[in-house]
Amino acid sequence: MKRGIALALFSVGLMALGVTSSFASDTELRAQAQGMFKPIPQAAPQIKDNAATADKVLLGQMLYFEPRLSSSQLISCQTCHNVGLAGADLQETSTGHGWQKGPRNAPTTYNAVFNTAQFWDGRAEDLAAQAKGPVQAGVEMSNTPEGVVAVLKSIPQYVELFGKAFPGQKDPVSFDNMANAIEVFEATLLTPNDALDRYMAGDDNALSADQKKGLELFINNGCASCHDGINLGGSDYFPFGVVEQPGANVLPLDDKGRFKVTNTASDEYVFRSPALRNIALTAPYFHSGKVWSLEQAVAIMGSSQLGMDINDEEVALIVAFLNGLTGEQPVVTHPVLPPSTKTTPKPMLQIGGSAH
Ligand code: HEC
Ligand code: HEC
Repeated sequence: MKRGIALALFSVGLMALGVTSSFASDTELRAQAQGMFKPIPQAAPQIKDNAATADKVLLGQMLYFEPRLSSSQLISCQTCHNVGLAGADLQETSTGHGWQKGPRNAPTTYNAVFNTAQFWDGRAEDLAAQAKGPVQAGVEMSNTPEGVVAVLKSIPQYVELFGKAFPGQKDPVSFDNMANAIEVFEATLLTPNDALDRYMAGDDNALSADQKKGLELFINNGCASCHDGINLGGSDYFPFGVVEQPGANVLPLDDKGRFKVTNTASDEYVFRSPALRNIALTAPYFHSGKVWSLEQAVAIMGSSQLGMDINDEEVALIVAFLNGLTGEQPVVTHPVLPPSTKTTPKPMLQIGGSAH
């Protein structure tokens, strides 16, 4: 870090002299980047106690697209984590059951398997625990575990698919196994080979000159101290407003973030640092979804997290770098879902499901 600070002072010095072209060599910059970030792997990671098989991944993919997991039978994971839209939904905050607005912006499901905990406040420890949340949330899918199991058991193809995905189990069609199957599918939603990863792997030309300057600013200004690792974020918690709390138009005062999970005063307005992979594709930004421009989001980060007034030129360079975090998007086919039967419960459209 000391070296980082020295380099930062050095580059600030250079810029004061009007010399902006002299940045670190590729060898130095690559070594710095490799010290802070890890590439997105090409293949899905193995999940502890939930081994992936082809049958389980296929079932998980079907369930991800399955609107009958919701009580209205209209809303699926895909509604808010659209695999044609980088795993997000382009909404300020998500719209769920009965057109209700949820309180937070939907983070992408892409690469989410690498986050240390799920949700803006980290309240779910992994993707399987996470998947049970939206199904039951009144403002999202508004269903119950019993409701889900009743639907799945009424459809013979699902009974067969659960049996294949969870062989040897007495009662494979369960809410837990729904979550386990979705988890192994989500672990396949990876976006490898973005410009940063190709640069780290040795391709000097993967990043443009501006993107390299942006990367250097990202590291030396301290962005990377909170946005690091495989996902450039998703690994630790920080107050939104380390130095200066943003206005209530960006940080609504009623959502105190991690405080609700830990009930500890120091966790007020603490959120997980979001993953920045594919960030250019997943506007709007912040848990409130109040900011639509990446430039503005970067400028806010400067003042709120670092106490720096990042000038427009530097903001543009950092944004150029962030554009280099768009990886190869997974191509996911919409599965054909098995038909309902006479015994399948009917859609329920009224509002008033359980609170989550
Ligand atoms: C109505 C919209 C909606 C639906 C439907 C929905 N989600 Fe979400 N999802 C969200 C929102 C909003 C958040 C953030 C909530 C929070 O942090 O409190 C979220 C968070 C997540 C996260 C955490 C990502 C991270 O980086 O923390 C994952 C993973 C996820 N959802 C997967 C799913 C799966 C799987 C389903 C289907 C079973 C699903 N979601 C259904 C809106 C939705
Ligand atoms: C002290 C930790 C910290 C530092 C330093 C930091 N961030 Fe953040 N960043 C966060 C947290 C926490 C959030 C989530 C804020 C929220 O919405 O609650 C965030 C959000 C973001 C977002 C919005 C992501 C999304 O999905 O909506 C972007 C973009 C971003 N940061 C970029 C940067 C850049 C660029 C820098 C350096 C100029 C930086 N950050 C510095 C912790 C940090």
